[in-house]
Amino acid sequence: MRRKIVAGNWKMNGSKDLVNSLVGEIRSGLASLDNGVEVVIIPPALFVSGVVDQAGGEVAVGVQNVACWDSGAYTGEIAAGMARDVGCSYTLVGHSERRQLFGETDGQVAVKVGRALASGLGAVICVGETLEEREAGKAEEVVSGQVREAASEVGGSQWSQVVIAYEPVWAIGTGKTATAEDAQAMHASIRAVLTSLGAPADEISLLYGGSVKADNAAALFAQPDIDGGLIGGASLKADDFVSICRAVPGRS
Ligand code: 13P
Repeated sequence: MRRKIVAGNWKMNGSKDLVNSLVGEIRSGLASLDNGVEVVIIPPALFVSGVVDQAGGEVAVGVQNVACWDSGAYTGEIAAGMARDVGCSYTLVGHSERRQLFGETDGQVAVKVGRALASGLGAVICVGETLEEREAGKAEEVVSGQVREAASEVGGSQWSQVVIAYEPVWAIGTGKTATAEDAQAMHASIRAVLTSLGAPADEISLLYGGSVKADNAAALFAQPDIDGGLIGGASLKADDFVSICRAVPGRS
């Protein structure tokens, strides 16, 4: 059975005060929830320990990025093993903002996936096409290429540590969400790519991200191949984030 997951990517937002208020509010909101959703908070790295303390083991914690190396003279970088050491269970890898603003390549993404898995972190591999690529009819080809490259560093039982987040670049922070049908079609295509790679595709959680809000989450999460969401802006408000967590259908 694949897991249902809702993860909040705070990006470069937040403060100590926000950590102290928001995590507790989210925990209270989740207390009465019994749909089996796994909730993950992914704050800026400096706030990870604070979130881990406030999360009380009820909410998982992740980092937004890890280095291509285990340790050494790489000023400003954070190793996957360090994130694990301070209580993280996940890292994002290859978020489109890393790819677009910091020039992260498919090859680097693959190396980071390998580092994350070897360190015992779950890797939430982010993939997604630009508007130009979608309009040129290349969306599935682009996403398939990103999945294949990232998967090159995953082997055997490590697939149980992999989550894939489909985040169309044109939907991130724009208020434009993919329709539930288009998102479902891409998720089904990603699952087919995983099958072709020999991965246990039916066991791998696939998340949708890109302007997920309380009012559109239920339609997205009702799709058969969408196992939850990766949430940006709406993860910074407890009510909105908890509503999105509630939109995950209960165990059947
Ligand atoms: P928004 O939900 O703000 O569109 O961000 C999505 C995202 O990039 C999550 O990683």
